[in-house]
Amino acid sequence: MAKHRIAYLPGDGIGRDVMDAAKIVLDKMNLDAEYIHEDVGWEFWKSEGNALPERTLELLRNTDCCLFGAITSKPKEDADKELNPELKGKGYVYYSPILKLRQEFDLHTNIRPCKAYKGNPLNYRDDIDLVVFRENTEGLYSGVEYYPLPDELMTVLSKHPRMKRFTIIPLEDIALSCRIITRNGARTIIRQAFEYARKFGSKSVTLVEKPNVLRETSGLMLHEARNIASEYPGIELQEANIDAMCMWLVKNPQDFDVLVCSNLFGDIISDLCAQLVGGLGFASSANIGDKYAIFEPTHGSAPKYAGQYKVNPLAMFLTVKLMLDYLGESELSGRLEGSVARVIREGKVRTYDIGGNASTLEVAEEVARNLDI
Ligand code: NAI
Ligand code: MG
Repeated sequence: MAKHRIAYLPGDGIGRDVMDAAKIVLDKMNLDAEYIHEDVGWEFWKSEGNALPERTLELLRNTDCCLFGAITSKPKEDADKELNPELKGKGYVYYSPILKLRQEFDLHTNIRPCKAYKGNPLNYRDDIDLVVFRENTEGLYSGVEYYPLPDELMTVLSKHPRMKRFTIIPLEDIALSCRIITRNGARTIIRQAFEYARKFGSKSVTLVEKPNVLRETSGLMLHEARNIASEYPGIELQEANIDAMCMWLVKNPQDFDVLVCSNLFGDIISDLCAQLVGGLGFASSANIGDKYAIFEPTHGSAPKYAGQYKVNPLAMFLTVKLMLDYLGESELSGRLEGSVARVIREGKVRTYDIGGNASTLEVAEEVARNLDI
């Protein structure tokens, strides 16, 4: 039996292109693994009314981790329109598979490294090397939303003094999304960030929140961050507001090491950070829980490039690197990153986003060739 059992979920659009590319590199590395394919994505929403069928969840429960391409998600109206006519009106509701997976497997920690590899002409600066820790299961992505606002909820909320001005508005004219932060959720993500900082010798962890306005939810994050920081002498806790942080990241991105944020802030800031080091073609991510992990590039399914093998697979290869780290395959992980860095530096084989005309699979072959150097 293979040492690692890996669920292999290409999903939709360019998810498939970059997962084909990943297979070329994985095969060349001879990773002792079994790759098990299963269904996920828009096609299965349309045909079965479920973009994440139970058989796929079952596979994930019986594997060590999952490598994931990307999926297409569309707004509610489009989702309803494209559903198989036989399933219409039967109560099927579209829900993003990746959000469901994060919650189902309690993948509380989303890690998004942003490193400027030498020779990448898209680098904003060449000395950027930071990593975003994004809380992955709570905050504004908890999925607790209302529209219209239920009567009984208004009754409770109207006791809050700041709610007064909303009580005169009809319930059907109010939508509500709940930003839920738990002490445990805050502690987990902050501790993960500090542990990472200690492991890799980072000097600072920056909490990116907005406690001057979001006094309770960001306030809890700040309180927990200060407590945890006291256990890590030598690692400075920096505190920044999300809006100011967007400015600082454009002004002095080289000053930052490890950033930690709640769910939505982490989502926003990680796109900004990705663009500092070349954009979505370079942005990798890991969703990690206590028992399971899912690895996916940050980019989506980019339908306009689907099946054309044009897009940059380096984000996917850097995602594979994160998976190898998780599996304890540090030698292979180092070789893969070394090869990616070399291919970027040499600049002979590049996809369109870096100004080249190589295909996704040509880049994969080049990275595979450079693994042994
Ligand atoms: P997207 O990330 O799919 O693509 C936006 C644009 O970025 C593309 O048109 C392309 O120009 C560029 N791009 C993306 N990946 C690239 C790569 N590897 N190499 C070179 N260029 C690349 O985002 P978009 O267009 O907002 O969403 C398309 C679909 O993907 C939507 O249905 C969305 O819901 C879904 N999505 C899925 C995600 C996931 O599976 N985790 C994440 C983000 C979006
Ligand atoms: Mg995002």
